[in-house]
Amino acid sequence: MRLYINIDHAATLRQARKTDEPDPVRVAVLAELAGADGITVHLREDRRHIQDRDVELLLGTVRTVVNLELAATDEMVGIAARLRPHQATLVPERREEITTEGGLDCGKGGARIADAVRKLRAAGIRTSLFIDPDPATVRAAAAFAPDAVELHTGRYAHHWRQAGPFLDELRAAAAEARRAGLAVHAGHGLTYENVAPVAALADLEELNIGHSVLSRAVLTGIGEAVREMRQRIDRARVTA
Ligand code: PXP
Repeated sequence: MRLYINIDHAATLRQARKTDEPDPVRVAVLAELAGADGITVHLREDRRHIQDRDVELLLGTVRTVVNLELAATDEMVGIAARLRPHQATLVPERREEITTEGGLDCGKGGARIADAVRKLRAAGIRTSLFIDPDPATVRAAAAFAPDAVELHTGRYAHHWRQAGPFLDELRAAAAEARRAGLAVHAGHGLTYENVAPVAALADLEELNIGHSVLSRAVLTGIGEAVREMRQRIDRARVTA
């Protein structure tokens, strides 16, 4: 099972101050050194976290692969076709949302999705569609002939303590996608507490996880960060 780490939240923290730290490019290097199989970033139309500069630098520095999440717009598809990440995952995007709230609408958005998949494939990019985990949506997505679908695990993640039906829903959608000849990815809302049952689903081959890992990094890293600042202050006082 491949683990791709979504590093958008490092950029969110940087953009809160519009400064240059933390640099998501550095976060990507450390994530790779720790065993991530790939780095995922979402270049949003409003550029609220990841910037064009980040994607360009990541493509020059990441040694594993970059999975670029993007809306199926002319601008974004043009950027992806120019930069040619290993994989492009088409996601729905609404400006007022806090995070990607649901899967792609393969009915209403069909023409745009078809056009985007065609252009991305022509640029040599592996394509994935982020969809809700139900068999009818999987079949609608398969009609666009992407390489993969990413199943939205949000519903499972929100109800994981009574997860039976939501896990079954993921399992059924994954089986349907495999029958359609698609690779199956999953992600959204996965945490240290709820990841195991999803990781055990045999039809899945890739997980995309961001918020929980970045949150854990704050907790596991805060002690070292404070100690380092303490040291610099103490050293300055001694030498003053
Ligand atoms: N997959 C997709 C398509 C996403 O949009 C996101 C959130 O950016 C993720 C996975 C990761 O979700 P989380 O940050 O909740 O782990």
